[in-house]
Amino acid sequence: MARTIWFLTGNAGKLKEATHHLQPLGYTVRQLVVESGTIVEPQADTLEEVAQSKIAQALLHLPNGEQSDDMVLVEDAGLFINALNGFPGVYSAYALETIGYNGILRLLEHLQSQDTIQCAQLRSAEFQAVAAMWMNGEILYGNGRCPGWIALESCEEEGFGFDPVFTPNDLDSFGEPLPPGEYGDESTHGKTFGALSIEEKQVYSHRSRALNDLLRQLPSA
Ligand code: IMP
Repeated sequence: MARTIWFLTGNAGKLKEATHHLQPLGYTVRQLVVESGTIVEPQADTLEEVAQSKIAQALLHLPNGEQSDDMVLVEDAGLFINALNGFPGVYSAYALETIGYNGILRLLEHLQSQDTIQCAQLRSAEFQAVAAMWMNGEILYGNGRCPGWIALESCEEEGFGFDPVFTPNDLDSFGEPLPPGEYGDESTHGKTFGALSIEEKQVYSHRSRALNDLLRQLPSA
């Protein structure tokens, strides 16, 4: 029988991405639903600390208890903008709620160039993600990053969060990110995450990479 992974998230976009990723590997992904306001997002310095705190809180709500074969997944991400010394970083959720992605566009308004590569360099940023999985009393961590840049304007077709304004760097033939603005074997042709399908986003996504890093450490389902 497929092993159940309870994913603690209130974000439908994240749930969809994780399911897309883990289901083909034989896991059943279910959303761990807890009453709103129950989970406290700690204001910590690193994504790992946030993830660790969320695992501890999630365990209190595990439907079949800690003795079952079930696993718990939490994932924490942040957008780190180089010209803003890494802001919003661990404060990304708060920044999205308060200034939104339009506020981010405004903060970078002075950083523009007619030259695409120079523009991408000036506005370079990266998503970082930590995925933490609790299984049999142990916590495993996976890390993923997705370098890219902040677009000049938003595009809101798909996705969530900062997707409308984040363009991932193209990838070389080994799937490794190229410098901002350079054209690669795998290319979004300058499109933001918000203009990509979920399948296209997975190729570049920090979350996919964090989950892959985690899965390398897991026994097969
Ligand atoms: P969280 O704390 O992991 O939920 O992420 C912090 C903030 O970054 C939230 O506001 C998310 O909406 C946003 N975020 C995380 N991952 C992504 C992504 O893949 N695309 C766009 N925004 C994201």
